[in-house]
Amino acid sequence: SALAVLMIVLAYLLGSISSAILICKAFRLDDPRLRGSGNPGATNVYRLGGPVPAGLTLLGDVLKGMIPVWAAYFFGLTPIELGLVAIAACLGHIYPLYFKFQGGKAVATALGAMFPVASEMAVLLIMTWILVFWVSRVSSLAALITVALAPLYAFLIKPQYTIPAFMLAVLIIWRHRTNIVRLWNGTEVAFRPGKRKNN
Ligand code: G3P
Repeated sequence: SALAVLMIVLAYLLGSISSAILICKAFRLDDPRLRGSGNPGATNVYRLGGPVPAGLTLLGDVLKGMIPVWAAYFFGLTPIELGLVAIAACLGHIYPLYFKFQGGKAVATALGAMFPVASEMAVLLIMTWILVFWVSRVSSLAALITVALAPLYAFLIKPQYTIPAFMLAVLIIWRHRTNIVRLWNGTEVAFRPGKRKNN
């Protein structure tokens, strides 16, 4: 429908706002695209500025997924249309209109997009991320295992969202390709407690 198209476009435009870049500016931190992993996301903002700016980045990026999907759900869009709104928000985060199409990896935005329609699944995904991060101390590994499980969780809990979850998983895993190479080579950097600067 025309409303669905409008929501998809708005989700992309909202997703294009980079929380990481704006919050690093506000906190007078270095540009996250030029430091650490070079990724404008909460993980890399943590490396640059610690928990407060990282937490705000995470919140902003989660809301970018949550708000458009919640609005679309409120307006009665179908599950397929909701999936497209979620993917549009993530595409905005990954290929932002306002930042030369060079954005982040969409882990937080995809998670936020799931809350309004599949909150049980979102909680399960958060628990998965925390568990893998707790064991490995590697944010990218936690994200990769979590998103790889998302289509399976969807199939078991909310089967109508299996296809969008699968599409998001493929997109996010593709976005982590440099992380995958580093994990494979054993050069991906883990977070050590109390040793932020070298992360
Ligand atoms: O959410 C992004 C995370 O999975 C990896 O971030 O900065 O370590 O590439 P980074």
